[in-house]
Amino acid sequence: MKTQDVKKKTKEVTLILKTKDKVLDLLKSKSNSFVSGEEIASELFLTRAAVWKAIKNLREDGHRIEAVTNRGYSLILDYDMLSKEVIDDVLEKNNISIKTVVMDEINSTNTYAKECADNGMEDDCVYIANFQSGGRGRRGRNFFSPKGTGVYFSFLLHPRTDVKKATGLTCKIAVAACKAIEKSLGIKASIKWVNDLYYKERKVSGILSEAYTSIEDGSLSYVIVGIGINVYEPADGYPDEIKNVAGALLGSSEKTDDARNRLVAETISEFMKLYNDPGMGYTDEYRERSFLIGNYVQINPNNPDLKKEYALVTGIDDECRLLVKYDDGREAALSNGEVSVVKY
Ligand code: BTN
Repeated sequence: MKTQDVKKKTKEVTLILKTKDKVLDLLKSKSNSFVSGEEIASELFLTRAAVWKAIKNLREDGHRIEAVTNRGYSLILDYDMLSKEVIDDVLEKNNISIKTVVMDEINSTNTYAKECADNGMEDDCVYIANFQSGGRGRRGRNFFSPKGTGVYFSFLLHPRTDVKKATGLTCKIAVAACKAIEKSLGIKASIKWVNDLYYKERKVSGILSEAYTSIEDGSLSYVIVGIGINVYEPADGYPDEIKNVAGALLGSSEKTDDARNRLVAETISEFMKLYNDPGMGYTDEYRERSFLIGNYVQINPNNPDLKKEYALVTGIDDECRLLVKYDDGREAALSNGEVSVVKY
């Protein structure tokens, strides 16, 4: 693009942003009542087409704007609504530079990130959603992703490394999310190896990392690191299959204006710091926050045909492998799998 064209485009984008903000402010000042397109246009000295475009952009950002014929538009004020502006603002203050896309609804942010990558998205980006209709968990399970109570987001990354090193990203996001939860909500969550977060003995977050390689030379094409965090208890509770395990960080009466935005922005910030600086340590923090050490566990292998075994967790090494000692005295360092604590 020529310099003149870039300047023109920048001007256009700035104009759209300003118009959008002005329309949002006007709708906010008259929230819960309707304002006609004509009124907005005349109050803000805009054309009707510009008003329509701004409403469309605001909806794409996740704002809920009702439109009724002959009455106009009404902004539905949503408590703690996910907002690209708020998230980008925190990222900028934290000196973190990564593209963000905020969506009200998507099937799965991991799936969407993959589609974007396959359609030529070459930049690193975070896809953030308020609701997932088909949230995916590990081992082909679903991830319950109700509207407005959790945050669901996936990083699309193009690391210049091999698949083996990229596995550290799962542990990095776990550490980053714990730090962000502490910073933004003042709550100390723990890590259950390898990638679940727990609070008050309930699973409050799950992580799904997926690596895609080139079939030609086996090199890493891109990585998707997805995390879902249950911030508030869902109004209708959890589905039966997870109701004894799942929990949330805050009760529904503890709603604040911006807990979810802050949590997303701080998690992105903490993760990107670790991602951008491969020399930055995180394993001590991972170990400190892990609650399995010293527990007797049942090991559920990835392959269901293999038999379940029992062992004592003796530690976590610098590659975030779980160190275990079986009943017969054998010792092992596990790099994947799932374990459950055996309670006496
Ligand atoms: C698990 O606990 O089994 C992993 C759950 C991972 C859920 C997150 S939510 C954001 C991203 N999109 C998905 O579909 N899954 C991950």
